[in-house]
Amino acid sequence: MSIPQIPFIFLFSLSVQVMPNSPQITSKEQVTMWAPFGQSAQMKCDATSVLPPTIIWISPRNEIIPSSSVKYQILNDGTLIIKKLTLADQGKYACVARNPAGDNIKNVNLLVEVKGPQINGHSGRSENKILAVYYQTLLLDCKAEGKPEPQITWTTPYGMSLPTPYLGGRFQVHRNGTLELRGIRKTDEGRFLCIAKNYLGEASLAFDLEVASLAEKPIFPVPNIEVLPLKADGDDISLECRATGKPKPEFLWILPNGTALNPGMKLQRFIHYLGNGTLHITQPGVIDKGVYRCLAKNVAGQAEKLMKQHHSITVLILQS
Ligand SMILES: *[C@@H]1O[C@H](CO)[C@@H](O)[C@H](O)[C@H]1NC(C)=O
Ligand SMILES: *[C@@H]1O[C@H](CO)[C@@H](O)[C@H](O)[C@H]1NC(C)=O
Ligand SMILES: *[C@@H]1O[C@H](CO)[C@@H](O)[C@H](O)[C@H]1NC(C)=O
Repeated sequence: MSIPQIPFIFLFSLSVQVMPNSPQITSKEQVTMWAPFGQSAQMKCDATSVLPPTIIWISPRNEIIPSSSVKYQILNDGTLIIKKLTLADQGKYACVARNPAGDNIKNVNLLVEVKGPQINGHSGRSENKILAVYYQTLLLDCKAEGKPEPQITWTTPYGMSLPTPYLGGRFQVHRNGTLELRGIRKTDEGRFLCIAKNYLGEASLAFDLEVASLAEKPIFPVPNIEVLPLKADGDDISLECRATGKPKPEFLWILPNGTALNPGMKLQRFIHYLGNGTLHITQPGVIDKGVYRCLAKNVAGQAEKLMKQHHSITVLILQS
């Protein structure tokens, strides 16, 4: 009487047993993935099943990807690595997890990130004025970034084009894009142009070089000795070093005990500010009395084959 029921139960139990045995890929929905030009992309394909699945990756051109080649690598856990990305690697990849019970598929859309060239952080054109001194060595930095990595070319005021790297007599282009000019002459005056190019475009940085035939040693406004009272209220003191020169001098402060402070250096309550030659003393007290000397130096004198010239100002801090 109940014969027709048997096949029904049989079919039902069959379908229940087959389904869990086919592989299941976690996070199966289509994924979009960005990866930078020139780098590697990694795509996961985690599949679970009772029978261990075989993982097959299919490229955007519908080809089965080999488990190891110059371009690709498939790890034991099914992860696909695509090396040295170019725009040709963009597209839809499919991961197929397969066992005798069935297939499961996951799609990944790969997009390769590109970026136009930038020089020292700027895109487009920028300019700089540079004052150098006869016989000096000069480094002109041109740090270029972009995806793909830009090619750097320098052009000189004579219209010469220098690749990277370049090794010439007085001119050298380092691998990092920096142009080194040695033994500068008056005839080197003019525009040195750095151009960074990739297929997305170009950025340029111009250095307009002026060469002072004679450098000027740092000079201080007269008188070059200054006396500052130590105030009773303990207000901060700023000692200024207003030397001028060509090119702009670098300053060095010498504390009463002989300790030297370079620009940008901080020592306890003493700060030598970067760029303007000011020495700042916080909460000055009786112990700070003494002679402070500021030395200003530039390349003046180098052209005359002398040592770097130093000139100084003296500041005397006294108790009022
Ligand atoms: C570039 O390389 C040269 C030579 O190694 C070095 O003197 C210069 O400081 C470098 N420039 C930058 C910006 O790193
Ligand atoms: C010189 O004086 C500074 C500031 O008070 C102090 O930090 C430094 O240790 C002293 N150096 C020597 C050699 O005494
Ligand atoms: C020097 O630079 C510092 C830090 O930028 C600033 O606080 C100070 O006022 C400057 N002094 C002068 C004289 O320009």
